[in-house]
Amino acid sequence: MRIAMIGTGYVGLVSGACIADFGHQVTCVDKDSGKISALNRGEIPIYEPGLEEIVRSNVGQGRLSFTTELSASLHEADAVFIAVGTPSRRGDGHADLSYVYAAAREIALGLKRSTVVITKSTVPVGTSDEIERIIRELRPGIDVAVVSNPEFLREGAAIHDFKHPDRIVVGTDNQRAKAVLTEIYRPLYLNRAPILFTGRRTAELIKYAANAFLATKISFINEVADLCEKVGADVQEVARGIGLDNRIGPKFLHAGPGFGGSCFPKDLRALIKTAQDYDVQMRILEAVETVNDTRKRAMAKKVSSIFGGVLRGKTIAMLGLTFKPNTDDVREAPSLALVTALQDMGAQVRAYDPVGMEQAKQVLADVTYCRDPYDCVEEADAVVIVTEWEQFRALDLERARDLMACPVMVDLRNVYLPEDVKKHGFAYISVGRFPSQQPVNLAGTPFSIAASV
Ligand SMILES: NC(=O)c1ccc[n+]([C@@H]2O[C@H](COP(=O)([O-])OP(=O)(O)OC[C@H]3O[C@@H](n4cnc5c(N)ncnc54)[C@H](O)[C@@H]3O)[C@@H](O)[C@H]2O)c1
Repeated sequence: MRIAMIGTGYVGLVSGACIADFGHQVTCVDKDSGKISALNRGEIPIYEPGLEEIVRSNVGQGRLSFTTELSASLHEADAVFIAVGTPSRRGDGHADLSYVYAAAREIALGLKRSTVVITKSTVPVGTSDEIERIIRELRPGIDVAVVSNPEFLREGAAIHDFKHPDRIVVGTDNQRAKAVLTEIYRPLYLNRAPILFTGRRTAELIKYAANAFLATKISFINEVADLCEKVGADVQEVARGIGLDNRIGPKFLHAGPGFGGSCFPKDLRALIKTAQDYDVQMRILEAVETVNDTRKRAMAKKVSSIFGGVLRGKTIAMLGLTFKPNTDDVREAPSLALVTALQDMGAQVRAYDPVGMEQAKQVLADVTYCRDPYDCVEEADAVVIVTEWEQFRALDLERARDLMACPVMVDLRNVYLPEDVKKHGFAYISVGRFPSQQPVNLAGTPFSIAASV
């Protein structure tokens, strides 16, 4: 099959490369000429493990190409995917659909024959209806089926997720479209990934409901973590104790600095807005959002509490800037709010992230970016683990302690065992683990005493 993929970001590039890997002929289109030039030079504009190999191999075998020109790729396309961004609209939190509708108009104007248009972008209920209306209005003579096919891949594990999905959701009642989607995903279907055919609006809502539910689990366990700190319980054990119940499951029950990234915050906001448009109040989701928003600044307070609430003149080393490991994406990462809050309190911030620093530089000012974790902690008054990159899980703690002005670790991802860190002379606080939450207050404390806390 001949496929055009509009949008060559985290979803479009991964989907395009994987669909080419299934044996289809894919043209990835993007308006960003810098991105397309880089791809045509063999450079991958995003960090995603395994992506470079799969792109290189499919380009080499002539199944995958990149262009800024949509019209040429439309001429023979059996299917056209829309995988452009749907960020939060400034001001009101609705999904900004301007990129999606612009793509729909471009498709309409460039089409030469009937095709199937597939919405892979995460879009509010009713968006595919509007895409269909736009295309029909501009090209009344061309037969186009518009399908909702939301994507569930996770950045950092995107290739695996695309090729081993828990399910493929296809929202359409058009028989031709069903046949085309079945053919595109045939290799996955043969691997027994279930294809769930639904109505188009249902498919659109499935995506939002899935993300909102996962976000709910995170805010839930974060509130449980707060309670653990007060009552002397350990949130890791609580999470394990409830997660072993099959009805609950262990995933997305890791207490931490709150969720971020390019999807959960904006999708949660957009779902709440959609519900409001239809006079439905989603109180649980409103609370999930509030809990998450307040949490990020609360994490800054957790750091400042060590110094009696006074961070002026302190240097804080941040390990990890991306919203999760194995991606370079810093969109709505907890680190952003945390850095700003620490700076507001007068702290100097040093930071290190294995791949996210270039993206972070575009949104964070007055941060000293460092070469590696040890460069980062040098002369710092506290080190904060913000993203659980593998390389932060086994730091040389003695080396770090000797480099720091004051050996304090704030582990917002609970990657260390409190006793392991403390035995190296650190004051250690983490999230929701009571034994580590004894009030640590180093305000005015000389180094030697601090080291023994
Ligand atoms: N990132 C994820 O993990 C993830 C997972 C599932 C679903 N989604 C959804 O997938 C969609 C895309 O997300 P993303 O993270 O890949 O976005 P992104 O911002 O990384 O990429 C979007 C790309 O679309 C391009 N674009 C915009 N308008 C265009 C047009 N008219 N023609 C050609 N190119 C155009 C942009 O230049 C950009 O390169 C969003 O709706 C998102 O919510 C994302």
